[in-house]
Amino acid sequence: MDHFLYRDGTLYAEDVRISDIAAQVGTPFYCYSSATLTRHFRLFDEALDGTDHLVCYAMKANSNQAILRLLAEQGAGMDVVSGGEYARAKAAGVPGDRIVFSGVGKTADEMRMALEGGIRQFNVESEPEMVVLNEVALSLGVTAPITVRVNPDVDAKTHAKIATGKSENKFGIPISRAREVYAMAASLAGLDVVGIDVHIGSQLTDLEPYRMAYEKVAELTKTLREDGHNIRRLDLGGGLGIPYERSNEAPPLPIEYGQMVKETLGDLGCELEIEPGRLIAGNAGILVSKVIYVKEGEDRKFLIIDSAMNDLIRPAMYEAHHDIVPVTEDVPGEEGEKYDIVGPVCESGDTFAKGRTLKSLAPDDLVAFRSAGAYGAVMASEYNTRPMIPEVLVQGDQFAVIRQRPTYEEMIERDIIPAWL
Ligand code: LLP
Repeated sequence: MDHFLYRDGTLYAEDVRISDIAAQVGTPFYCYSSATLTRHFRLFDEALDGTDHLVCYAMKANSNQAILRLLAEQGAGMDVVSGGEYARAKAAGVPGDRIVFSGVGKTADEMRMALEGGIRQFNVESEPEMVVLNEVALSLGVTAPITVRVNPDVDAKTHAKIATGKSENKFGIPISRAREVYAMAASLAGLDVVGIDVHIGSQLTDLEPYRMAYEKVAELTKTLREDGHNIRRLDLGGGLGIPYERSNEAPPLPIEYGQMVKETLGDLGCELEIEPGRLIAGNAGILVSKVIYVKEGEDRKFLIIDSAMNDLIRPAMYEAHHDIVPVTEDVPGEEGEKYDIVGPVCESGDTFAKGRTLKSLAPDDLVAFRSAGAYGAVMASEYNTRPMIPEVLVQGDQFAVIRQRPTYEEMIERDIIPAWL
């Protein structure tokens, strides 16, 4: 459930009319609901009730400072994957002992930054990374808490570009080699091995792959303990999917996921961490756009709107479906029209949807892309010198711009013409 509902025939975010925001901010823009964000965070927190746990929001999904602050106030930790994300988490007031550092290519500079600023743990993904982290920690006179990310060779049954748990993927170390890698970690004085990490993919709509992966982690916990390692923390990754196509998708709920976690790992006496991103932010955000033209093609109608693939790249990149709805509600029984919904960018890939039935629309009408709160704004670019679009956060009957649209001048000023030109 989210807080984007129609009232009196017009779409609201909580108690604010989307059309009012559009009039003030201009289109296109992202709009997020605070109540939905906090609700989704709490669903995960409650799903692990009764266990020692921390929900570390995977901030790659949406790393706006206002959103980080909102979730941090609820008690969220953060999962970061770069020095930039680490800096953002700290700037939003997240204490270092609630930040976990993931990613296959952490640099020595990023490691130093996190060790100096405080870190809960690094999720290490290879032996060479382990060697570098050990050196950095020793040079600072500290020990770095680590888990090793294991690759359980499980098919997450999701889009190939976001599956990470098969042996052919670049992530983690093969679980079959885990004992040697943990032995090596234990021999490095700058590292403190605290646990195991696993993340098998994103937008998972079935619990079975998780169950298979977590059963392997439970086995490994016992084996590593027998080898003398003090395994006391399990980072279980993120990835739980959301319904993008509401009419026919019902992925498992956080409470069902939590139940499965307790069944597979609950009796090991470990502290648990999870790293959900999409489920917290995805359905807490919409992208609002305006119709520029309705164009008659040979055999179809094109709805040309003012947002494009640079604003929301998921359809072009993953063939992703987003429900697209008119901001002024359909009148039941009224016959709609079929549209190909496209942006103004000069590529055929700049197509959001083909053959979508919507009510009949005209220039200046507003439409909203649902489920756009995760991996929307953060993956945007300024391709075609289209300014990054504003982000707006709603809370009850108030809203605020939480990222401003840059002016053309601001965009151009970032370039530097060298003296010889
Ligand atoms: N933990 C790790 C180590 C991850 O790599 C990811 C996502 C997550 C947690 C959070 O997964 P989530 O709960 O959000 O599914 N841009 C793609 C999604 C990429 C996900 C990458 N890793 C998209 O738009 O679908």
